[in-house]
Amino acid sequence: MKAIILAGGTGSRLYPLTQISSKQLQAVFDKPMIYYPLTVLIASGINELCIISTPQDLPRYEELLGNGVQWGISIEYRQQNSPKGIAEAFLIAEDYVGTDDVILMLGDNIFSGGDDFPSAVTEFSGGAKVFAYRVKDPQRYGVVEFDKTGTAISIEEKPKQPKSHYAVPGVYIYDNNVIDIAKTIKPSARGELEITDINLEYMRRGDLQVHRLSRGFAWLDAGTSSALHEASSYIEAIERRQGVKIGCPEEAALVRGFLDINRFEALIQQMPTCEYSEYLRIVAREWHDLYE
Ligand code: G1P
Repeated sequence: MKAIILAGGTGSRLYPLTQISSKQLQAVFDKPMIYYPLTVLIASGINELCIISTPQDLPRYEELLGNGVQWGISIEYRQQNSPKGIAEAFLIAEDYVGTDDVILMLGDNIFSGGDDFPSAVTEFSGGAKVFAYRVKDPQRYGVVEFDKTGTAISIEEKPKQPKSHYAVPGVYIYDNNVIDIAKTIKPSARGELEITDINLEYMRRGDLQVHRLSRGFAWLDAGTSSALHEASSYIEAIERRQGVKIGCPEEAALVRGFLDINRFEALIQQMPTCEYSEYLRIVAREWHDLYE
């Protein structure tokens, strides 16, 4: 399965921060925002990724992440020339996806906890799989309604009167039909190719599965300055309490076997002395204790 991270948009709700840097490069506590979805993907066993961003911002992502070889993965880049919607990702990356299944993650979605995504990737067997997460303010999201048996029966994009409290987070797994479906959908009233319309088409075909994420799972939004600050505080609190970091691609690559311990340690050598590299040294020490 291939992965796409969409890191586009103008980030106007984070103005003036986004005057000088793309939204998904902003700091969420101690790492750039994009590290979080990237790490979820690596931890799910994905080693082929494509990052889509604006022509202005793309060079910064390339500078930060390179071609992925340092983490034992491959990263390619594609441009979204104007913000024409999440579903446009499948048109932009059509050649990249080829005949594979694909997981799309939004670059501003931050998750912590559980193994729902790795399991979903491993168990995926066609159609579409999306997730549902209870939120207080569903009208800001795609909202999924369930019947009494727990089957998803409707999805609406940013409804004024939501039919449930279940929002659809920015992680979507599709079979290769998604490319053809993306070619058939029309822009919405806000002028965007909506991911919700893709999900509705899979639902119409009887091919959509919606997996409810449990309460203990955290899905954080970093779309406004206050939400960004809250996300940073949350990550800091969990990292401080547990002594583990969330969103370290190096660690995920080591655990998934994309990097061996020697290459992992060589990476640390290239880093300055800082909390991040200090943490990775602890990970390396624990790795030696466990496996040698
Ligand atoms: C988008 C999707 C929406 C989804 C949300 C998750 O919203 O359109 O369905 O729930 O991402 O972050 P947008 O980024 O356009 O606000």
